[in-house]
Amino acid sequence: MKILAIESSCDETAAAVIDDGLILSDPIASQIQLHAEYGGVVPELAAREHLKNLLPVARQALDRAGKRISDMDLIAATQGPGLPPALLVGFHAFQTLAFALDKPFIGVNHHEAHLYSPWIDPQTKRLNQNSFQPNISLIVSGGHTMLVKVDSPLNHHVIGATIDDAAGECFDKTAKLLGLPYPGGPVLDQLASKGNPKAYVFPRPMLKDPGFDFSFSGLKTSVRYFIQKHPALVEDHRHLQDLCASIQAAIVDVLVKKTIRAALQSEVAMITASGGVSCNRGLRNGLQEACDANGLSLRIAQGRYCTDNAAMVGMLAAWKIDSGASLQHIEEGIRPGWRLETDANE
Ligand code: KG4
Ligand code: ZN
Repeated sequence: MKILAIESSCDETAAAVIDDGLILSDPIASQIQLHAEYGGVVPELAAREHLKNLLPVARQALDRAGKRISDMDLIAATQGPGLPPALLVGFHAFQTLAFALDKPFIGVNHHEAHLYSPWIDPQTKRLNQNSFQPNISLIVSGGHTMLVKVDSPLNHHVIGATIDDAAGECFDKTAKLLGLPYPGGPVLDQLASKGNPKAYVFPRPMLKDPGFDFSFSGLKTSVRYFIQKHPALVEDHRHLQDLCASIQAAIVDVLVKKTIRAALQSEVAMITASGGVSCNRGLRNGLQEACDANGLSLRIAQGRYCTDNAAMVGMLAAWKIDSGASLQHIEEGIRPGWRLETDANE
């Protein structure tokens, strides 16, 4: 089964070619530089950039894989959730192409693709299905933060989610308050690695709440007030590093403690994590230490598979087909608000 997969839900234009479960190529054209000037993703600009880059990136994926579009047995594209103008370009362009070439076409849920991305082995470039165990999965991206119980492959339900900002949004917005360039998450991570996480204490929202929902907007507000009160701290590099480490510690503390509690309560032996924020070194170390202390195993998405990419879209499509999903041409349009729990398994 040869699959061409497309991802265009936000600010990465990505394509991948999968051949019998092996990732042959997965080029990504990032729009970060374009949006940096505006301090965030501008949906209209993202759509125009996808329009410009999609066909070259798809051609690059096919060339690197040594394949032609006519070799493909299936075309898969992210159908939602995401920015409507961005989704529209990738999804409909490749739906139309599939229609014209008389190939099956399936739409993939972006969160579900992140959810199973920790199972992509970066060495073998295959899914590591054999080591699957029931797990609690933390999806932490710029658009969402959620905890999902995965009982068996492709059988999952959401047990908690953010009620306001996503963790990535909190990283990006607090970084902006500190005057750091967009996207702030990786820059804040870098500065935090040299700072003292105990220098300042920021709130750990909803940590004491018995449920598994998150809230990050209060933390962002508290950072705003703190900076208004102590503007000189941001100007001093040493203090800036301490501020970054302290903000990161607050976000990571909530994410790690809630994830561990969910795993212990659900009596699973494994935690998985994915999405752009799972690149964060503080989060990776915090999850590893907490898993070690509680006898849990940990599997975090690796390298390029943490942030948005088309390999995870194609691998999920492959996993679904392997599990008996039907090969057909879907006629429906994009689903910008597609919730993971309700219908990702349909
Ligand atoms: O999964 P992703 O690429 O796109 C969405 O689906 O949203 O995640 C992007 C988010 C951004 O908010 C970015 O700042 C954050 O992931 N991010 C990080 C790090 N790398 C990416 N946040 C904290 N530390 C990092 N190292
Ligand atoms: Zn994403």
